Amino acid sequence: MITVVGGTKGGSGKSTVATNLTVMLAAAGRDVLLVDADDQETSTDFTAMRNETRPGGAGYTCVAVTGRNVLTEVKRLADKYQEVVIDTGGRDTASQRAALAICHTYLVPFAPRSFDVWTLDKVAELIEEARSINPDLRALAFINRADAQGKDNAEAAEFLASKPALEFITTALGNRKAFANAASQGLAVVELRPHDAKANEEVGKLFGYLFNIKKISKLKEA
Ligand SMILES: Nc1ncnc2c1ncn2[C@@H]1O[C@H](COP(=O)(O)OP(=O)(O)O)[C@@H](O)[C@H]1O
Ligand SMILES: [Mg+2]
Repeated sequence: MITVVGGTKGGSGKSTVATNLTVMLAAAGRDVLLVDADDQETSTDFTAMRNETRPGGAGYTCVAVTGRNVLTEVKRLADKYQEVVIDTGGRDTASQRAALAICHTYLVPFAPRSFDVWTLDKVAELIEEARSINPDLRALAFINRADAQGKDNAEAAEFLASKPALEFITTALGNRKAFANAASQGLAVVELRPHDAKANEEVGKLFGYLFNIKKISKLKEA
């Protein structure tokens, strides 16, 4: 299965979500390819840190591919892996279009802020365009960096749910330092010690919604 974490907004959490899902898939025993389709190379840097710091290495393969090359390279590589996760850049619509043409699931995080949800029309356009060549594309929107309180989450949810091009899923991730703390150490949030129970639960629900995988064991250390 090819899962793209996308959207046109920078800083929405694409790389955070892509890297967490990748590590969790690997921990579930899947052979995973993480495609870094953003020239900012966040996923590449994250993977390099894992390869340097973990005795068993990152636990998955990461390649950097941008622009239209995403189409040809991922098509060629997809058969060799059980799961492909693509981390796209916000600005590079060429790589995003290419990823949308070949993926099964397009997952779009939105922060519950106006500037973020205002990009929804653009995202819906990309999806509708992609469906002309990839009619079975599953497009999902969810809230990332949800507020602990206030009405912004609910307002953003209502807006996101109003677009027929995407399915709004309620598996939100809260705005939790654990995500940033884990990333800075080359870890998925489920690997962070001490655990952030709420972050683990949230990312576990999102993962469970996306992938039909029951048990995630620990990644082998060696
Ligand atoms: N749920 C979250 N809680 C707290 N911080 C987050 C969360 N998701 C992302 N971040 C932080 O927001 C920043 C942007 O996230 P990133 O994944 O790099 O976004 P993008 O790849 O969409 O540009 C990073 O500093 C990241 O640690
Ligand atoms: Mg990124």
